[in-house]
Amino acid sequence: MLPFKSLTSSKQLTPEIIKQIFTVVDQMAVSIENKGRIDLLDDKVVALLFFEPSSRTMMSFQSAAQRLKAGMVFAQNASSTSFEKGESLEDLIRMVEAYSDIIIMRHAQQGSADIAAKTSKVPFINAGDGGNEHPTQALIDAYTIHKEIGRLDSLNLVFGFDSLQSRSIHSLSRLLSQYKNNRFTFTGPKELEPSESLLAELQSTGTECVIASEVNLHDGYDVAYVNRLQEERFENRALFEENRRKYRLNKPDVENSGCLILDPLPRIDEICTEVDELPNAVYFKQASYGVPVRMALLAMLLGKA
Ligand code: CP
Repeated sequence: MLPFKSLTSSKQLTPEIIKQIFTVVDQMAVSIENKGRIDLLDDKVVALLFFEPSSRTMMSFQSAAQRLKAGMVFAQNASSTSFEKGESLEDLIRMVEAYSDIIIMRHAQQGSADIAAKTSKVPFINAGDGGNEHPTQALIDAYTIHKEIGRLDSLNLVFGFDSLQSRSIHSLSRLLSQYKNNRFTFTGPKELEPSESLLAELQSTGTECVIASEVNLHDGYDVAYVNRLQEERFENRALFEENRRKYRLNKPDVENSGCLILDPLPRIDEICTEVDELPNAVYFKQASYGVPVRMALLAMLLGKA
């Protein structure tokens, strides 16, 4: 059982809770391998509300629900729901809680996850709220690092290239700041450095945070976590155009560096496709962990694991 009803922020994910979740993730991975689908949630209905585009998060939650034999209800863009007629988020959630046992929502508005979680009588999972948080992605990222390196502490990490607007960077840096002796280097355009408030929050845990205009991955980094510039969140279009191809990992940047390369994807300009063949490029493996991680979360939040 988890000590919370809903997951809206990676701040809720302490090392002790993460350890418990990873144990269940490992069990789910074995169950996929051995049985494909199991009856664990065959008496449950999962609601998937995706009001911003998604491939991985939406389909891996669908796959997770299918593998646990849960039923599903969907809303896939705001214009096909009564949001279009002006219905509030609170009223929508009050309806959906009557149609399902757990609600998963992606929404463009920062803070929408907190509103939905407070309103909902059934468990709620934040699948991304604007540029704020993406806690289930952070769990997938941490699971990948743990599988590859065997620890989540004493890591020398690079985050790039849009630390200001990437909810995945916000959630993973918050999660990893709860472990001892991690060092974060944020790189990318000056205008897209992490906010002062995020930096202060991370530093308050004792995590060393550095800002660097450039990094060399051969300088002893354990992990580079890169993400596309978040085009849809730019108020200044010229800033996006000016920087979109300036920050990219090419094969020589990565080869023989010993640095693990993660990306929550979709990959746009931030990693050259030549990097894909390198053994330390693990972003597609990382995406594949979405299913067992989300199976574990569904089962645990519904009191079945
Ligand atoms: N990583 C991630 O959130 O991908 P999608 O936007 O495709 O769901």
